Amino acid sequence: MKKIAVIGAGTMGNGIAHVFAQKKYQVHLIDTQKTALEKAITTISGNLDRQIKKELITASDKLNTLNRITSFTSIEQGVLDVDSVIEAATEQSDIKKSIFKQIDQYAKPSCILASNTSSISITALAMVTSRPEKVIGMHFMNPVPVMKLVEIINGAQTNEDTTKTIVELAGLIDKIPCVVKDAPGFIANRILMPMINEAIHALHEGISDAATIDQIMKLGMAHPMGPLQLADYIGLDVCKNILEIMQEGFKDIKYAPCSLLVQMVQDGKLGVKTGQGFYKY
Ligand SMILES: NC(=O)c1ccc[n+]([C@@H]2O[C@H](COP(=O)([O-])OP(=O)(O)OC[C@H]3O[C@@H](n4cnc5c(N)ncnc54)[C@H](O)[C@@H]3O)[C@@H](O)[C@H]2O)c1
Repeated sequence: MKKIAVIGAGTMGNGIAHVFAQKKYQVHLIDTQKTALEKAITTISGNLDRQIKKELITASDKLNTLNRITSFTSIEQGVLDVDSVIEAATEQSDIKKSIFKQIDQYAKPSCILASNTSSISITALAMVTSRPEKVIGMHFMNPVPVMKLVEIINGAQTNEDTTKTIVELAGLIDKIPCVVKDAPGFIANRILMPMINEAIHALHEGISDAATIDQIMKLGMAHPMGPLQLADYIGLDVCKNILEIMQEGFKDIKYAPCSLLVQMVQDGKLGVKTGQGFYKY
């Protein structure tokens, strides 16, 4: 594989583009919003500067990495000649299904279609395409340049070749793949999101303040970041969407997002990306 398209230039898309470009892949970064593409390039540039400061890369590595990324506002043009597509658009089933239909229409037949979805069924995304055997989950963790794990999710029809290729691809960009079956939230979010939701319930009930709740989980469980701060980094809208998808998928009220989370999302307090979540940024 030489050329990768990344669809969605938000928090995750810019990180995925960064990592592949740094590993010498040509990257087509696609977003419907021109401003999201511009912001992504600025973020990648800033993150590369941080790597220069830590003496992990040189200034010319930064330039070469940025030169390997081309921005597109059209899926049709962006996916035409790529070997694999990684979709990292907004966590909404209808948006992703419409994107997968378009990729399937314009990407070459050999192209593998991967989704970075946190919780949406890979099998359901595969079903809107004519190549369900080539559809797979490639769930990166945030921040992508730093985190080692990639959860690889096999849909009901994903074939062995596709899994093997994507497991190898994850290794080639220095990530560690863990393969799981398709189920709401897969493994990472099935365990993480109920913990975050429970921390929000505890805050809402006034059992303690955000900083203390986070401190308890950091000191007591050796978590590097408390659940409320982590939720701010993930994005409170993303957390709410994932919980709702798990609630719907398992038909179990225990996954229902806490009313405080719902209210904060309604108020536009989405965490780091809007400057206000459980903390101010
Ligand atoms: N935020 C996290 O920590 C995290 C971690 C792992 C996985 N994910 C998953 O990654 C995906 C993206 O999440 P994010 O946090 O980067 O979201 P985000 O809101 O930061 O970015 C989403 C981007 O998708 C773009 N988009 C929406 N519809 C589009 C379309 N039709 N075509 C092209 N672009 C479109 C938006 O303009 C936006 O720039 C989601 O599926 C999410 O569940 C997120």
